[in-house]
Amino acid sequence: MEDTNFMSQLEGQGPVREPQRQYYFMAKARDYITQMKQTLGRDMTACVVTFGCQMNARDSEKLVGILENIGYTMIEDETADFVIYNTCTVRENANLKVYGHLGYMKKVKEKNPHMMIALCGCMMQEPEVVEKIKTSYRHVNLIFGTHNIYKFAELLWRCIESSEDGQKSRTLIDVWKDTDQIVEDLPVERKYPFKTGINIMFGCNNFCSYCIVPYVRGRERSRAPEDIIAEIRRAVADGVVEVMLLGQNVNSYGKNLEHPMTFAGLLREIEKIDGLERIRFMTSHPKDLSDELIEVMGESKKICRHLHLPLQSGSSRILKEMNRHYTKEDYLKLVDKIRAACPDISLTTDIIVGFPGETEEDFLETMDVVEKVRFDSAYTFIYSKRTGTKAAVMDNQVPQDVIKDRFDRLLKAVQDISSDVCSRYTGETVEVLVEEKNSHDAGMVTGRMSNNLLVHFEGSDELIGRLVKVRLDMCKGFYYIGTLTE
Ligand code: SAH
Ligand code: SF4
Ligand code: F3S
Repeated sequence: MEDTNFMSQLEGQGPVREPQRQYYFMAKARDYITQMKQTLGRDMTACVVTFGCQMNARDSEKLVGILENIGYTMIEDETADFVIYNTCTVRENANLKVYGHLGYMKKVKEKNPHMMIALCGCMMQEPEVVEKIKTSYRHVNLIFGTHNIYKFAELLWRCIESSEDGQKSRTLIDVWKDTDQIVEDLPVERKYPFKTGINIMFGCNNFCSYCIVPYVRGRERSRAPEDIIAEIRRAVADGVVEVMLLGQNVNSYGKNLEHPMTFAGLLREIEKIDGLERIRFMTSHPKDLSDELIEVMGESKKICRHLHLPLQSGSSRILKEMNRHYTKEDYLKLVDKIRAACPDISLTTDIIVGFPGETEEDFLETMDVVEKVRFDSAYTFIYSKRTGTKAAVMDNQVPQDVIKDRFDRLLKAVQDISSDVCSRYTGETVEVLVEEKNSHDAGMVTGRMSNNLLVHFEGSDELIGRLVKVRLDMCKGFYYIGTLTE
């Protein structure tokens, strides 16, 4: 069914020609969808379900971009004609959620003969997972991984072809171990018209001993600064005022570029883009947070007053076991330096409880950092053993009841501090980006402050996407109720 002439023109042309190749498959799939719509006398629908981090959320926008280009109508309902799960595997419960959905989908699919189910994302990079799905969830049509997501249109077309040939029970599987490619210029559909995530790098080289991400996302690759800037310029021309620069460790941006560049250097360039009002980034690894970056943050008018700086543990001994390359003292010193340069900055963090060998003393070190730093908020996680990581084979795993007790104590401390810290802005008037209608009260909208806190206030939909001034009247723990002042 392939147009061999067109395909041979693209053979051996490498990644530069990849977008054209994918647009070719989009066109083929579009013809099929148009035909199906006519035959069925209705729209063909698609649904993307996302698990995991901001990187996955951004990947899902790429999936939506391609699905819309093909002619699917996007809905948020897993009875759609095409359902794709973009999966996460950072902790065991992320995997369990996916299996839960898949089990339920078997019945749903029996009712719709045109339905196709696909799986992609980090969990698919694990061979045991793919094996399990192949044998126990045979209603899945397509599986691909994190490295070939740019081939989605082609894979989808192959699935359509084989379902047309009556091979409905076969699962098409295409998972790559790693890649050094970055494919630019494929369609992408932003979830919000006024803000967007921008990948600046892919993969991770840090191998923190508990973490599966380097195994499922591959080696670190930075995008060329000119591609990043061009993408942001296009987004801004299209109405975007806030960008979130994405990478597992943005502080090591640019090291592997042909002309190396630091993350601070990249920020300086992005700051110059006219019409862009706010810059966020995530995630920062404490070991690579440079003085240059702190300086840029201190001087910037656009970088938001928020830094997510994962601590993981307050015990220098555990940090070493975790392969984090900093000590408790390093972390505390870093926080002091950042606060000296940006006094009003909001600091948030990630903490893992129950890493193998964690003693009560180690845990108290973590509590000590929490009390000293007084984070604006902290995501707390129970250690989850991930097959293939160094920590998974450490023999001193902490009993579940001990972990649970520590987790509850940590959560209480974190929440008490955070509601206290958050209330410090009461009475101030701040600039917020209005993001959405309030889900509980139709007369209200929700805006995000530079420091990432939310404020709900009376206002109409027309404010959505605009930066406005709001007085913070009352703190409700983790958010504010305010009044529009302009
Ligand atoms: N690149 C980011 C983290 C990405 S994963 C960074 O280095 O900060 C997000 C968070 O999940 C991590 O910060 C860590 O706190 C948590 N996490 C990762 N692996 C985990 C595991 N095996 N068990 C529990 N939490 C884990
Ligand atoms: Fe995982 Fe560490 Fe890489 Fe973050 S820096 S993704 S925690 S290995
Ligand atoms: Fe999960 Fe993959 Fe992100 S494992 S946290 S979706 S990089």
